[in-house]
Amino acid sequence: MKATAVAHANIALVKYWGKRDEALLLPEAGSLSVALDRLLTTTTVELGAPEDSLLIDGRKASDAELRRARAVLDAAGIRDRARIESRNDFPTAAGLASSASGFAALAAAACAAAGQRRGERELSALARLGSGSAARSVPGGWAVWEDRDAAQVASPDHLPMRLVVAVCGEGPKPVGSREGMKRSRETSPYHAAWIEQCRRDLPEALRLLRARDLAGLGALAERNAMRMHADSLAADPPLLYWEPATVGCLHAVRRLREQGTGAWSTIDAGPHVAALCAPEDAPRVEAALRSVPGVRDALVCAPAGGARVVERSSDARPR
Ligand code: PMV
Repeated sequence: MKATAVAHANIALVKYWGKRDEALLLPEAGSLSVALDRLLTTTTVELGAPEDSLLIDGRKASDAELRRARAVLDAAGIRDRARIESRNDFPTAAGLASSASGFAALAAAACAAAGQRRGERELSALARLGSGSAARSVPGGWAVWEDRDAAQVASPDHLPMRLVVAVCGEGPKPVGSREGMKRSRETSPYHAAWIEQCRRDLPEALRLLRARDLAGLGALAERNAMRMHADSLAADPPLLYWEPATVGCLHAVRRLREQGTGAWSTIDAGPHVAALCAPEDAPRVEAALRSVPGVRDALVCAPAGGARVVERSSDARPR
């Protein structure tokens, strides 16, 4: 049995940075994200292979990546060995490769290949075991994740907006999210304050989203991201995810605002800056970010939907 599924990466406006349960991958605080149309992953799972294998954009995955994929299959009760192939529709060399879209597509494809009919919430809970943020890529749109699964709270077209992603570095980040948030939780003196802030930010962000208040939501997202990085910078040893181009983009976005263009920055655990803006301002924001020294590329993304199975076939040939 073989199935292919697609899923979009997402960017959080209220971020997930800290687990209350390391084994179950449960977050300390709720998060809110939006799925991005141009960051798409396509994953094919073929069951009945002699051993598990995982190719990401043609590269053989590391043992750690393969173990995470197996954890998702095990949790779905899939004992058959799997041949997994994952392709990203965006430049992975730039370090934009997303575990969120990857594990969301994997959960959907693996369950379809096994002939399982699972609802969105179950798929979201499975994807979470690969990577917490993947829980939000299953429902897509505007998604909230607070516990074992995530749910869509607003459709992709609820609020017209764009996220302009400026590629500010390449290669994998020095410290992955899983390790980075653990270190922040264990050593950063600001971590408790960060989590309390997220608990205040989420209901406020949902209120602003319901009111379609892009300026309010953008400003909240920028503050939330800065506070996540303040938490990380205060860890021991410190976590510095930024490159010079990252700081350049933060200034460029602030200058845009001073000149009257509504744009707000957010940054995940890496160097890239995503600038939130209205659709009509996206060309100006894109041009401003492209002119920052060190920025390699800028992708204008619109909100997108959730993970979906695009192909399913059963192969009756003897193996
Ligand atoms: O899902 P993970 O383990 O890759 O962690 C994601 C952490 C952030 O991207 C920094 C924040 C978020 O909520 O997506």
